[in-house]
Amino acid sequence: HVESMAQLPSGAGKIQRLNAVILGEALASEEDDLVLPSEEFSSQAHVSSPRQYLEMYSRSIQDPAGFWSEIGSQFYWKETWAPEVVSENLDVRKGAVKIEWFKGALTNICYNALDRNIEAGYGDKVAIYWEGNELGQDGQLTYKELLEKVCQLANYLKSVGVGKGDAVVIYLPMLMELPIAMLACARIGAVHSVVFAGFSAESLAQRIVDCKPKVVITCNAVRRGSKPIHLKDIVDNALVESTKNDVPVGLCLTYENPSAMKREATKWQDGRDVWWQDVVPTFPTECPVEWVDAEDPLFLLYTSGSTGKPKGVLHTTGGYMVYTATTFKYAFDYKPSDIYWCTADCGWITGHSYVTYGPLLNGATVIVFEGAPNYPDVGRCWDIVDKYKVTIFYTAPTLVRSLMRESSEYVTRYSRKSLRVLGSVGEPINPSAWRWFFNVVGDSRCPISDTWWQTETGGFMITPLPGAWPQKPGSATFPFFGVQPVIVDEKGNEIEGECSGYLCIKNSWPGAFRTLYGDHERYETTYFKPFAGYYFTGDGCSRDKDGYHWLTGRVDDVINVSGHRIGTAEVESALVSHPQCAEAAVVGIEHEVKGQGIYAFVTLIEGVPYSEELRKSLILTVRKQIGAFAAPDKIHWAPGLPKTRSGKIMRRILRKIASRQLDELGDTSTLADPGVVQQLISLSDC
Ligand code: WTA
Repeated sequence: HVESMAQLPSGAGKIQRLNAVILGEALASEEDDLVLPSEEFSSQAHVSSPRQYLEMYSRSIQDPAGFWSEIGSQFYWKETWAPEVVSENLDVRKGAVKIEWFKGALTNICYNALDRNIEAGYGDKVAIYWEGNELGQDGQLTYKELLEKVCQLANYLKSVGVGKGDAVVIYLPMLMELPIAMLACARIGAVHSVVFAGFSAESLAQRIVDCKPKVVITCNAVRRGSKPIHLKDIVDNALVESTKNDVPVGLCLTYENPSAMKREATKWQDGRDVWWQDVVPTFPTECPVEWVDAEDPLFLLYTSGSTGKPKGVLHTTGGYMVYTATTFKYAFDYKPSDIYWCTADCGWITGHSYVTYGPLLNGATVIVFEGAPNYPDVGRCWDIVDKYKVTIFYTAPTLVRSLMRESSEYVTRYSRKSLRVLGSVGEPINPSAWRWFFNVVGDSRCPISDTWWQTETGGFMITPLPGAWPQKPGSATFPFFGVQPVIVDEKGNEIEGECSGYLCIKNSWPGAFRTLYGDHERYETTYFKPFAGYYFTGDGCSRDKDGYHWLTGRVDDVINVSGHRIGTAEVESALVSHPQCAEAAVVGIEHEVKGQGIYAFVTLIEGVPYSEELRKSLILTVRKQIGAFAAPDKIHWAPGLPKTRSGKIMRRILRKIASRQLDELGDTSTLADPGVVQQLISLSDC
């Protein structure tokens, strides 16, 4: 019968068989579910058939060192790695978890993204098209111009004492200055930590306290849609907070964003605050590169986990560089003539790997969009696609779902004929959103790369290669080169064939994160101990009889709201910081547009009555502590919570109450007080 992908690497015979099956009977029986790439698309693609994919894939698994060193040699290394390409231990039973790729080699990712491409003749090619919030507000930089801007900032940072290994926090909206700042840090070996500019002062402060930056880079304000947001005020508050925690930051480099706010109106602290425009342009446009070890840190990016404290995911230089560039090239079938737009913000991993590094390493032309997709109206994305002749458009299912609720006339009034590949990321894309994206946006012409990956993985892990496989709407299809996904049961046994369970990865890949900053033990406990011998992703997954992978969402205490990862514990700790809240339990519920919504059960301090005013103030507390994107959709007053006799909250029951699946509450007899369940059900309209 049909072999599963998990069994593939073990023998060429099996690959042959799967190949035959895929091209022949098994898939043909399900033709209705399959969307085949056109002849025209496949024939020009980097990988144009399942057979070619399988050959490359099996080589990448059987000989990872050979496979990746061949790809690695396309980059510039001041010194090459020696002797091993990869050295790894993913098994906690055998000692500390360690992942190293290209160790001993010297390189620089900024050099590879800019200088190397300029030498290859791309100097006058547009690196970044910038589209502002307002129609008609735009800008552009060629590779040469981008390098000059990066060098000026790099020189400035050096002049104020930032050097190799120093942390720099970047809190900027989607201006060109954001990728410029990332690349400038990389050029001098400094470690950037970009914080999404929708995070609150408290969240920003928490990250500053953790990584102790020498400099914070921000701008005075930004307009998103019709609203101005004073970012500098948020940074000011964060710096007061971090100083209280013994992490004073001596320098706040502030970009003046004149279309949002004049400099005169900006609150200022002399001695600490410096205008970007006053200093950076005075520095030389050339800056020597700091050569770093492939395993030197490139950046920290904080992400949510199952406890309240965000995790500082650490990525290093060499493997991340090779991996983001390679995944970008294959998953989007990138060609030098492409114009590429990813709607993600650089504050998230997608913006790191697939706005900044992956595309620029390939010499691509990238669009950086500062505005909102529904401003001035919901046709804005397609207006931008036509304006710049975008060929590859990469976005999140939540955006697709919000746009598909509007009249498709907002889409069809634009030509979109430049588009050739679409991409999706952040959460499972439901088949109906997939079909709308495919049929309406892509005119049934453009394959969709539904890329499954994580902050921790650095780059794509399970993704279609658009010219290779027939697609199934809603499936992320097959693993990228070098990735061995396995599905395990509760006990950690690998399950073969058609099955569902917990998604783990068996081996390391170049883009893998190397540790959690300052907490290697938490790294091991969270990711490598749940199923010894594997990296545990935190996601559920099923595999169908053709070997296609279907991601089913998080199986831990993380909620995915509009593609943003939010830890339930973070929201709970924000809620209980409210003076009138005694206890809180947060679960995810299905949400038509956001994928998941946040549903919070709250127990108030004895004697405090529940009121509409209190509800609003609880939500406001979460907005202020984390950010607007984490605001609960629903507050459910809970005089008592369902707990086991040992005091553990039974979230399983809360999830059922939240989603009104009351006939599926299951066994409640082990609760300390089974009566609370009925009480909660009766209060659900409060
Ligand atoms: C989810 C974003 C299904 C998943 C790149 C994962 C997805 C989490 C997909 C990581 C996808 C991301 N299909 N689920 N194509 N892409 N996810 O760290 O639950 O912000 O674990 O990285 O998003 O979110 P993160």
